[in-house]
Amino acid sequence: MLKGRHVVLGVTGGIAAYKCAELTRELIRRGAEVKVIMTESAREFMTPLTLQTLSGNPVYTELFTLIREQDIAHIALAEFAELMIVAPATANVIGKAAAGIADDLLTTVLMAMKAPVLFCPAMNTQMYGNPALQENLKKLQAWGYHVLPPASGPLACKAEGQGRLPEVTAIVEAAVSVLTLKDLAGEHVLVTAGPTREPFDPVRFITNYSSGKMGYAVALQAQRRGARVTLVSGPTSLPPPDGVEIVNVGSALEMRDAVLSRLAGVTVVIKAAAVADYRPAALREQKIKKKGGSLTLELERNPDIIQEIGRKEGRRIIVGFAMESENLLENARSKMVEKNMDLIVANDLREEGAGFQCDTNVIKILDRKGNIEELPLMDKAEAAGRILDRVRALLKEKKRGRRG
Ligand code: C5P
Repeated sequence: MLKGRHVVLGVTGGIAAYKCAELTRELIRRGAEVKVIMTESAREFMTPLTLQTLSGNPVYTELFTLIREQDIAHIALAEFAELMIVAPATANVIGKAAAGIADDLLTTVLMAMKAPVLFCPAMNTQMYGNPALQENLKKLQAWGYHVLPPASGPLACKAEGQGRLPEVTAIVEAAVSVLTLKDLAGEHVLVTAGPTREPFDPVRFITNYSSGKMGYAVALQAQRRGARVTLVSGPTSLPPPDGVEIVNVGSALEMRDAVLSRLAGVTVVIKAAAVADYRPAALREQKIKKKGGSLTLELERNPDIIQEIGRKEGRRIIVGFAMESENLLENARSKMVEKNMDLIVANDLREEGAGFQCDTNVIKILDRKGNIEELPLMDKAEAAGRILDRVRALLKEKKRGRRG
């Protein structure tokens, strides 16, 4: 998402300026090209040399340093930027931006900027609560600027409260979200992810190797694209994406209840979970003791959640997954029809870089018209984006059909 994107990072004079070294590194690590502007007071907290070394570009500090005429810094930087991040943003820079003051390089670049701007305020709790600052932030948001609210916790001034610069990962996530087209705004996407656990005594259960990565990637991308997202997740070790409503479940029966009770208003269901087809017929109250000889576990069928959704009223888009070790396309197609899905995402267990635990996938997307979109190896975030592109196209088609 940030690969090849041009980011201007404006650093102002707050104690959190030191975190900009890490922020610059992370932006570069994600493939962005970063140019840094530092105000005079930011340079009291950190030397430009650090950010110059990390960004691989000169750090811009002065309004009137013309090396060549075409380098009029504020115009060149404003034209270079696809996104500007101001982090930390002091009360002072926020006040100046809200008042239309441009008296140094950073505020002049802000004035000339066409690209989206993300302010990351960081300051003492009292300052953050000050009505002038709050009014200024509201004014900036009303003009279309983005604001990432500060985090709560211990502050440099020894007080506790809201005012800390958020973690670097949260700033980068907010930046990615600003850059993402909100083409799923107004949709409510319900995603299931991960394995289910089917217990047979208080300490044991049957499960599978699903990591949840594919479903979590779909949830994150849908959230970035402006959808309201509910993620019903089996047990995984993944952190839930910010801004997503997470519902944790254990067994297939719990997943079924969680999904069916949340369907009202849902416009898209994406079932990436690897739901166990069978569960132990009995759940023992006590731990099963080992004895000589073998032990037989009787299993019974779990309900098919996606099939139940497919039978329900309401024209929502239903996307299922098929993971197969043989006859991938035929099996996937018949599942799509049988379970009344609009799309099915097929992946072959035998393919290198595809499937459960890895960060990549090799998927084929089948639709009801008989099209098969075969995608190359890509990371799960990108694969999620491609699935959502297809969902978006179907939603558009559906809306057109309703009008026609
Ligand atoms: O038939 P199969 O289990 O391969 O179908 C896979 C698709 O069906 C996935 O989207 C999965 O989440 C869904 N499924 C379900 N309930 C089950 C089994 C599978 O919703 N009990």
